[in-house]
Amino acid sequence: MDLIKEIEVLKKEKKAVILAHYYQEKEIQDIADYLGDSLKLAQIAAQTDAEIIVFCGVHFMAETAKILNPTKKVLLPVLKAGCKMADMISPSALKRYKEEHPDTKIITYVNSTASVKALSDCICTSTNALKIIHHYLDQNEKILYCPDQNLGKYAMKEGNVSFDVWDGCCPIHHFLDPKKIIAMKKKYPNACVIAHPECKLDILDLADYVGSTKQMLDYTIQSDCKEFIVCTEKGVIHAMEKANPDKKFYLASPTLSCSNMKYTTLEDVYQCLKNETNQIDVPAEIAVKAKQALDKMLELSK
Ligand code: 13P
Ligand code: SF4
Repeated sequence: MDLIKEIEVLKKEKKAVILAHYYQEKEIQDIADYLGDSLKLAQIAAQTDAEIIVFCGVHFMAETAKILNPTKKVLLPVLKAGCKMADMISPSALKRYKEEHPDTKIITYVNSTASVKALSDCICTSTNALKIIHHYLDQNEKILYCPDQNLGKYAMKEGNVSFDVWDGCCPIHHFLDPKKIIAMKKKYPNACVIAHPECKLDILDLADYVGSTKQMLDYTIQSDCKEFIVCTEKGVIHAMEKANPDKKFYLASPTLSCSNMKYTTLEDVYQCLKNETNQIDVPAEIAVKAKQALDKMLELSK
């Protein structure tokens, strides 16, 4: 069976749209109607008039799509595709923090569960984190940034400011060894280093450019650089190579692979679309509060 053809037929029949994150396998990226970073995919999910959203990514992304567009059927091809960072903060721990710090605004990275989002004042992604953090700091608010310590520390350093930061991280980015980048720079002296802000500061200090997956991709297109050392999950290199056939991309380390992002296969997409299985639902009382925090992000991102 030609799975790609069958998926196309089902998509038309069922008025479905396929969204995929840059960390997905190549063949999944290639069948997607929209490919993007967390912010772009959330914005598309919020606005689509399709009946079904097949979200090729991880659980929090599909959950975000459902919260933003609750009347749509949102399907996650592999239900066990979670996010290690999202698991590093529980609603009960965040509730405890809020009780101890009643005046602090909670800014939560989109890589979090719906229950954690529901306890937050505003959500952010790697694209808009600095802007949103500064929006609150400019109003003299005390803030907690959770759960990613690295993006929080990066924002503190960039803005020369200080605020509370949760101690979560993405293990894939967090354990990237700066010695690897230094060795790669020796091997490829003309290459530019591009890094995701989920990396530690000692990596970001070595980078020529820091940004979300989409911002990194855009940078590779706009930059005069012909070679890049890529410090984020390996999937994004497929999109970079497609957009820049004349440029070279070197993954900073073979450890930069997110197993959760790699579960999804064409067969999974086909099966879940055909049978409309793996639906994502969010309890109404959580969804309403999480949507307020997500809407705040979309408003501040304009
Ligand atoms: P982006 O929003 O930059 O695509 O990041 C998502 C993610 O999970 C990074 O690890
Ligand atoms: Fe989560 Fe890290 Fe995978 Fe992104 S790369 S989905 S932060 S575990």
